[in-house]
Amino acid sequence: MSTLARIKELEAEATEAISAATDTATLEELRVKYLGRKSELTGILRGIGSLPPEERGPVGKEANRVRGALEEALERSHEALAAEELQRQLEADRVDVTLPGTRPVRTGHLHLITQTRREIEDIFVGLGYRVLDGPEVEHDFYNFTALNHPPGHPARMLQDTFYVDPASLPEGVRNEEGLPPGPRDVLLRTHTSPNQVRAMEVSEPPLFVIVPGTVYRRDTMDATHLPMFSQVEGLAVSEDVTLADLAGTLQEVARALFGPERETRLKPDFFPFTEPSVQVDVSCFRCNGTGKLPDGSRDGVCKGTGWIEILGAGMVDPNVFGFVQDGRYDPERIQGFAFGMGIERIAFLKHGLPDLRIFYENDVRFLEQF
Ligand code: DAH
Repeated sequence: MSTLARIKELEAEATEAISAATDTATLEELRVKYLGRKSELTGILRGIGSLPPEERGPVGKEANRVRGALEEALERSHEALAAEELQRQLEADRVDVTLPGTRPVRTGHLHLITQTRREIEDIFVGLGYRVLDGPEVEHDFYNFTALNHPPGHPARMLQDTFYVDPASLPEGVRNEEGLPPGPRDVLLRTHTSPNQVRAMEVSEPPLFVIVPGTVYRRDTMDATHLPMFSQVEGLAVSEDVTLADLAGTLQEVARALFGPERETRLKPDFFPFTEPSVQVDVSCFRCNGTGKLPDGSRDGVCKGTGWIEILGAGMVDPNVFGFVQDGRYDPERIQGFAFGMGIERIAFLKHGLPDLRIFYENDVRFLEQF
């Protein structure tokens, strides 16, 4: 075969290989193979001197033309393939900055008591209530006096209440008479009810509020008692709020917490700051109010009664309105209802827990389940 024919053949072979290449690495191999120092075409160009004189011109011209053509083809193909490769690389490396990060360690979650408190708050917010907060270190006045607990009431006794050493209080703390606190004037609140008068002091009627929080009592710890637990206080005051509103409101709440099938009932009770006072029971969500489990045995949740006590409530005693400064809550004009529920108790019932102490033991095997 003549050298010219061989050059044509090389051109055809190389052109085809270049157009078949799918990546830049292959193109580089082809460049070395067809145009590199050891390539056949370079060999032909180098050997021109040893050709018969009449072939030198045409072969040199043709070899250089093919060289130029292949360089151009390589360059064009390289441009296209490099752009494609860049695009693919960008796709593969794309970071979606809106995705959540990868958690480096296992994170925790809210404690069951906090979850339950928030659930209760959501229900009341849905009913139009505001959520307020109040102090855990409280004055005797709000905790007892303004709630009709007369001196000598058993709840005021040292064995029931944690009093705070007045010397440990910040300077400037005064009791209701503007005097420095006496030995029994300041305490860890025994319930969230002091926030009834506190809420009325800062807001005009009508008033619809709940106040969740921690409370303290000198109780020995056992399966059903804790010296520190959580309550949610509720207060609704307007010119025409009635006991029927209390019953309807708490029925809604019981259904939101324990299921839409639940019924509620009110039973007479006594609290110093409500008149009349009631205990609110919800029909048992476990046995559906029958007191019996499907196998005929007694339901332990409601102790076979079909009803579970969930909270204390009542119509606000007119005396309590009288303790709000400046007579802004005139008991002749307004009335209201109040209620107090234990958060641990609600969570304990909802989840069928065996013992209240489990909330504060911080055993992750328990906590992780909620
Ligand atoms: N403060 C009461 C307690 O801790 C609970 C309670 C009962 C609150 C009746 C109320 C109420 O607002 O009306 O036992």
